[in-house]
Amino acid sequence: MEDRVIIFDTTLRDGEQSPGAGMNAQEKLRLAVQLEKLGVDVLEAGFPASSPGDLEAVRSIAEKVRRLEVAALARTSKEDIDAAWSAVKEAQDPRIHVFIATSDIHLEHKLRMTREEVLREAAEAVRYAKQFTENVEFSAEDGSRSDRDFLCRVFGAAVEAGATTVNLPDTVGYALPDEFEELVRYVRKKTPGIGRAVLSVHCHNDLGLATANTLAGLKAGARQVEVTMNGIGERAGNTALEEVAMSLHTRRDIMGLHTGIRTAEIHPTSRLVKTVTGIVVQPNKAVVGANAFAHEAGIHQDGVLKNKMTYEIMEPEMVGLTSNSLVLGKHSGRHALKRRLEELGYDLTEKELNRLFKRFKELADKRKEILDEDIEVLVAEEILRCPDQFELDYLNVVSGTVAVPTATVKLRVRGEERQGAGFGIGPIDATFNTIAKLAGSRSRLLRFSVNAISGGMDAQGEVTVRLQENGLVALGRGADPDIITASAKAFVNGLNRIEYMKRNPSRTGEITL
Ligand code: KIV
Ligand code: ZN
Repeated sequence: MEDRVIIFDTTLRDGEQSPGAGMNAQEKLRLAVQLEKLGVDVLEAGFPASSPGDLEAVRSIAEKVRRLEVAALARTSKEDIDAAWSAVKEAQDPRIHVFIATSDIHLEHKLRMTREEVLREAAEAVRYAKQFTENVEFSAEDGSRSDRDFLCRVFGAAVEAGATTVNLPDTVGYALPDEFEELVRYVRKKTPGIGRAVLSVHCHNDLGLATANTLAGLKAGARQVEVTMNGIGERAGNTALEEVAMSLHTRRDIMGLHTGIRTAEIHPTSRLVKTVTGIVVQPNKAVVGANAFAHEAGIHQDGVLKNKMTYEIMEPEMVGLTSNSLVLGKHSGRHALKRRLEELGYDLTEKELNRLFKRFKELADKRKEILDEDIEVLVAEEILRCPDQFELDYLNVVSGTVAVPTATVKLRVRGEERQGAGFGIGPIDATFNTIAKLAGSRSRLLRFSVNAISGGMDAQGEVTVRLQENGLVALGRGADPDIITASAKAFVNGLNRIEYMKRNPSRTGEITL
């Protein structure tokens, strides 16, 4: 019988710490429902002490998803643990996750605490959390760079205080696989009482080794892995859920381990994470990249046509890649749209479907075929967007080889109509200047990119902007067959996200741990 690996998903907490990936409560809830469908065992929904907004988001997730454990992160203070408990207490199976750093670098420069103080505080925090729930996880931040014997003492104290899971993070993605495997073996051997807790690993991808290190941890006996969808997370990200799940599935001959992941939900989940966070997936990304199952070289294509196994180690259908069998167009009805949305993993209410159908019809009038990518941007704009402070009502742009680029904009600012015109060095600059003036915004444009969503001359342009204001960074996205309109929508979306972050400080991507 193969051993079962617990999948602890932290897309909504560590993943949300990716620069610009801040999600609002509604977006988090929608993702939580999809992660439940995917079959994760534990869902780390957030860090409630970081903001009242995050506490509320975690609370609504705890009330809604019932088929998994819901965890909330807390530092070792009573206030943090109280906030975590208040957020998850209505969950079917709540978990409090407390952490403190254990490396000398963190002790000396960040915490300014001695090892003995950290040891005591870790045990006290676990004991305090145990008053609320049986299910308490303890993490030793920067564990991989900590003194091994001290790490084992802290884990031992946490287990003694009642921790049911102890987690070893490679917080800065520094470890190498052999070294990490050896460290996990050491912890298993030297930590007093370790048999009473599940040993977990949590890796970051700074050297591109997060998945390798996570698998090394499993080889050494860890039985929980902390992962995010698409590998999003701080800096270079966390271990990618899909990579670990598919490695264990594809190489069960070697690993002898299994998970509860429903692999066919991997692609729908990946797409939803991309849509919600605005963080695109690199085309050559393992399992979920656009090219992960594309065979370009003639010799490969020939082989695959003769027998897929020549060049394919996983079947695309297994990870939920459906072929676009049903192309939608202007004659498609609500029913066809609803079915395609369900195949893509979106479960919309009647009201949402009606709204989306209206936009779908407008687009279908301009574009011959509506592809999955088009549907996804409609969902992003119509259903998943932040509560709007700013709404674009009207845009008219004059530009050309002789004209001074001018934009006339009508913008709704918290319901109030504002109209104005402005210039720029190009039509997009003129549009952004005018919108910023009407919105009273001081946001700076850090990055601008435009892509064709799908092939063909009538493809929609998808614009992504990265905006910054007072240390807050937000991504904005917009799509339209007209790229100036797409740019305006992206800019307005980015401004809305900045506004949301201002009201919910944890959404800055700068939570102090
Ligand atoms: O990377 C890390 O150390 C963390 C802990 C809070 C578990 O995210
Ligand atoms: Zn982390």
